[in-house]
Amino acid sequence: MMKEMRKIIIGANWKMNKTPQEGVELVSELKEQLGALGDMEVVICPPYPALLPVGAELSGTDMVLGAQNLYWEKEGAYTGEVSPGMLKACGCEYVIIGHSERRHVFGETDDEVAKKVRAALDEGLKPILCVGELLEEREAGKTEAVVKRQLEAALAEVSAEEVSEIVIAYEPVWAIGTGKASTADDAQRVAHFIRQLLAKGYGNEKAEAVRIQYGGSVKPDNVRAFLEQPDVDGALVGGASLKAAVFAELVKNSREG
Ligand code: PGA
Repeated sequence: MMKEMRKIIIGANWKMNKTPQEGVELVSELKEQLGALGDMEVVICPPYPALLPVGAELSGTDMVLGAQNLYWEKEGAYTGEVSPGMLKACGCEYVIIGHSERRHVFGETDDEVAKKVRAALDEGLKPILCVGELLEEREAGKTEAVVKRQLEAALAEVSAEEVSEIVIAYEPVWAIGTGKASTADDAQRVAHFIRQLLAKGYGNEKAEAVRIQYGGSVKPDNVRAFLEQPDVDGALVGGASLKAAVFAELVKNSREG
């Protein structure tokens, strides 16, 4: 499969921003500014309390709903956690898993990330699996080793039939929220490395079907450069997804090419 056959996917990771009302307003403005998306996917990932109202506002559009995290158990005494089934019932199609803020602020381990990926797939949710190295790991020449460890751990229980359901977001931690994006060449180099690892585990054809996003300070004026890379199929966007005009411009710039 060629790159052209992989549908571009842009994720909006709102992180801990937007009340339900603010989220609905943002989506309502986005709808006015975006119109039909054509052959690409846009996934809006609000915080939990905004999922239902934002999902309702998205209905009838080409944009779909995603969550930012989940817990792997189905139900029970897990105060503060949210199950895959609950996300599904709120209308989520995607769920971000293993975001660097989960890993580095909340101490999420590779093993926990793997359980979350498995639980999401079991519920029919598509994981957006985040991997990426810290600045000190990059400077020590460990980027590939870190990405390999994170990827192999997260996919340990994922079959060849399931792997194309997963979107992989390569997000170098030093590029997130810093305004210092990776170069497009560097993003391509790591995305290609990820695709090679997938090919080793699942064969070429399966690996070619997996979409790989770049994330970390993606803005309207640099998104195109990333998408032009042969192994980069989309972007995961934090800061630039919080204002309708900025995100709409970013999505439009992703489409042209
Ligand atoms: P950023 O965040 O676009 O604000 O750098 C990206 C992310 O954390 O997914």
